[in-house]
Amino acid sequence: MAQKDRECPTIHSSNGAAHQDTPPCVLTIFGATGDLAKRKLLPALYNLMAQKLLPDEFVIVGYGRRPQDEGQFRDGFAEGIKEFARLDWDEAVWNKLKERIFYQQGAYNEAASFKTLQDRLDQLSKQFNAGPNRMFYMATPPDEFAPIIENLGQLRQGNNHADGWCRLIIEKPFGRDLASAHELNMLLGRYFNEDEVFRIDHYLGKETVQNILVLRFANAIWEPLWNNHYIDHVQIVVAEEVGVGRRAGYYESSGALRDMVVNHMMQLVSLVAMEPPVALTANAIRDEKVKVLRAIRKFSPEEMVKYTVRGQYEGYKQEEGVAPDSRTETYVAMKLWVDSWRFSGVPFYLRHGKDLPRRNTEIVVRWKDTPCVLFNDSCDKLKSNMLILRIQPNEGFALRANAKVPGSGNDIRDVRMDFDYSDAFGAEPPEAYERLLRDALIGDGTLFTRRDEAEAAWSIADTVLEGWKNAPAPFSYKPKTWGPAEADEFMAEDGRRWHEPGTASDATDS
Ligand code: BG6
Repeated sequence: MAQKDRECPTIHSSNGAAHQDTPPCVLTIFGATGDLAKRKLLPALYNLMAQKLLPDEFVIVGYGRRPQDEGQFRDGFAEGIKEFARLDWDEAVWNKLKERIFYQQGAYNEAASFKTLQDRLDQLSKQFNAGPNRMFYMATPPDEFAPIIENLGQLRQGNNHADGWCRLIIEKPFGRDLASAHELNMLLGRYFNEDEVFRIDHYLGKETVQNILVLRFANAIWEPLWNNHYIDHVQIVVAEEVGVGRRAGYYESSGALRDMVVNHMMQLVSLVAMEPPVALTANAIRDEKVKVLRAIRKFSPEEMVKYTVRGQYEGYKQEEGVAPDSRTETYVAMKLWVDSWRFSGVPFYLRHGKDLPRRNTEIVVRWKDTPCVLFNDSCDKLKSNMLILRIQPNEGFALRANAKVPGSGNDIRDVRMDFDYSDAFGAEPPEAYERLLRDALIGDGTLFTRRDEAEAAWSIADTVLEGWKNAPAPFSYKPKTWGPAEADEFMAEDGRRWHEPGTASDATDS
């Protein structure tokens, strides 16, 4: 069908967001003296302001327990912006942002502090003409989430800004198991509607993650081949070069599964395996994603352990804040089955670790082999077709195909067709937090985790965690290697190998 003949019914699409003005609002950041605010949130707000994506009627209030001099509080962000913002430093932009930043000291568990906060927000809102809209960002340690929600909820009940909106953005970790995630959801549900709650998963804000849907559903060539008739297996690798460093205190009680797999990696699994949504709306997309999570095969905890390999890098136990006999995993490899019509029988291999050789996140879709009847002599040289989605760095994708080597004879070699974001579009993609903050401000929840998604992901992780309780301690691995040898054996048992991300090597060849 010619382009112009395509049917183009009215679609309720979140794409309109790009053209929507960000409304006036007062944004409160709980935990504003922490690392996240300095490294990610303020740089993202700076970038938004530099791109004129924030209105003049906008105020930022940092809230924290510690007393702070407001001037120093503001200046502290300047360093973070210079170091971490994607866009270059511009004094004029900073001055405009700076005069909109305020600090409010208070406790997280005292109603009186929240009443004082509310009065301050109202006063600042008048001063900047920012109106009744209120956004609250929870960037505190997770123990503070419940008291903050409770206090905001109480305040809200007593004082409903009928003509404005009130939204919450909640950082991860959203719970530490299914029960605690459910409890948090129940608490949120007591005071807020689901469309007022934005559970952040910054992977969803990455351009290349969003591109998975465009790649799959805006191109005719993939979908017919995107199923168990043709796909052999899928690998999702999230490798990090750094160890846990200063975050050991948090990490020790979390571990790789809770920190990365249950959220970021499960989101990647759902985007790869989901069906086309009926529209590009927040709920239509999340409806399809949650179906994938529900379709992941359930095992008993004991059985589930057989499909995982845990690792811990040598030296982890010596990090500050880590127990000398710690069993916390800094590496996890696992195999999942998505028992959907489309993916039944196709294994999904996930691996993630800290202190690996490189920082690389890649998704590899590997297709089944062609019959080897025509190229008998070169059969060993035929490589399976493979699509590598480079989530980061060098954002883009590559397709591997077989080609004839020029010359007489029928020699065959694999080649790559490569697409690189910055080459194609001449610009670095925006930071995840820029996109996510703005989406929340305009009320678009597409790139946030819905209540049922969070719980569905936890129900899988819970089984693994339960199984690990009675399993041997994690295998150790040397820093800057690809993890314990046991993870390679685990793949070898299936006749496969791990893809080594960030290289031209196509190690998935069996
Ligand atoms: C965070 C985890 O959610 O994601 C960190 O808590 C991890 O442990 C980080 O390092 C990785 O994010 P990115 O964007 O650098 O891949």
